[in-house]
Amino acid sequence: MKADIQRATELVASQLPAELYLHTVRTRDTALELAKRYGCEGRELQRIELASLLHDNCKHWQAQRLLDEAKALGYEPTEIEQRVPALLHARVGAHRLRRDFSVTDGIVYSAVYYHTVGGRGMCREARIVFCADKLEPGREYEGVEELRARATDGLNELCLVVIALGLNYLTGKGALIDTATLDFYNELILERSVG
Ligand SMILES: [Fe+2]
Ligand SMILES: [Fe+2]
Repeated sequence: MKADIQRATELVASQLPAELYLHTVRTRDTALELAKRYGCEGRELQRIELASLLHDNCKHWQAQRLLDEAKALGYEPTEIEQRVPALLHARVGAHRLRRDFSVTDGIVYSAVYYHTVGGRGMCREARIVFCADKLEPGREYEGVEELRARATDGLNELCLVVIALGLNYLTGKGALIDTATLDFYNELILERSVG
């Protein structure tokens, strides 16, 4: 996997537009910080590094290209994704891992697949990439500082506050909410009541 990380580092540097590349590097650094805070090691750290490097591999694509590519890959966009094709960069990006980046690891796939809206059944690595993407130091929105401070409460609590802030933002502007985010939220609440 070390070779994959090296190759991914070079690929994102050469393929992504400058701003997206910088966001990618900051997401990688934030993800690794969170991962160490939550006790990840070895292979887990490598998967998190690789997934965060590749998480936005097609974020810069236009809506039509994402829709076309999803179709070519046999992925049927949800109603919300049809209305907001930008969301597809997570699904298409995950599918591209094997084809365009020779990355076959299922957990890396899952972390890329779920990084934007979340979903049910996300592993720890996917949850960390999901949070790092929203918390990296280049992100500036109301409440992000408090959010960063909540990292001490544990990964699941951090996911919950990231979701809450995101929902707040989306409802505030009357935007659509992907139901996968609500599934993720409910799962975290259920885990909290069990744990
Ligand atoms: Fe993204
Ligand atoms: Fe991102």
